[in-house]
Amino acid sequence: MLKVKNLKVGYGNVPVIFDFSFQVKQGDIVAIVGSNGAGKSTLLKTISGILKPTGGEIQFMGERIDTIPAYKIVEKGISHVPEGRQVFGKMSIKDNLLLGAFTIKSEEQKTKLLKDVYEIFPILEERQDQKAETLSGGEQQMLAIARGLMSNPKLLMIDELSLGLAPFLVDKVMDTLKIIRNKVTILLVEQKVQEVLEIADWGYVVQNGRLAIEGTGEELLQSDIVKKAYLGL
Ligand SMILES: Nc1ncnc2c1ncn2[C@@H]1O[C@H](COP(=O)(O)OP(=O)(O)OP(=O)(O)O)[C@@H](O)[C@H]1O
Ligand SMILES: [Mg+2]
Repeated sequence: MLKVKNLKVGYGNVPVIFDFSFQVKQGDIVAIVGSNGAGKSTLLKTISGILKPTGGEIQFMGERIDTIPAYKIVEKGISHVPEGRQVFGKMSIKDNLLLGAFTIKSEEQKTKLLKDVYEIFPILEERQDQKAETLSGGEQQMLAIARGLMSNPKLLMIDELSLGLAPFLVDKVMDTLKIIRNKVTILLVEQKVQEVLEIADWGYVVQNGRLAIEGTGEELLQSDIVKKAYLGL
């Protein structure tokens, strides 16, 4: 579904991603893990077109996308849930969700998408007219994921799902991914290596903008690199 080949990205003339290649297969949950500053968010921003690469190529459904504007990438079916949620606290939950559907022109389809996300996240329907800031941290994260689904994506990219969440909430939010994976392919970026590799079909470890190792979630959890660098074993 997604093919990233020899990607190079930098800020100004400071390179951050050096020759990074990876793939996402349709229907999978794929994780990119690594420590602070490794370049994970930079990778997602480049895929969604917010940043332009200095080298390499990104293909989505067989088409090159690194040369087209960000809104067109959304229309092609890639949705990006940014780091730190960025929910609009003073707006209602429903209006936050409708913002996610900015590329959807048909009112009928918007209503259908809203109904679908309310089915997955009933709490959002119960509180749809309340301000988003009244939701707890975990609920706001669910709102951010739900808003990501409102553009009807084929690929949902989520940056730091676990950020700022208590451990029991991390598990709860991860559980929602198991539900939405039937509808959408998921690319996750995470510092919580253990939790995310437990649910990932395939994972990539990025260190200083380079691929360190890849494998199934289980293989990576057993690998020396992951055990030493991320699990403190
Ligand atoms: N706008 C920017 N201008 C300059 N440098 C940046 C900018 N954004 C990120 N960087 C640098 O690029 C590198 C990679 O940052 P990035 O945000 O991709 O890391 P990350 O893996 O997502 O980290 P974290 O886990 O802390 O979110 C870091 O050294 C960071 O300081
Ligand atoms: Mg980041």
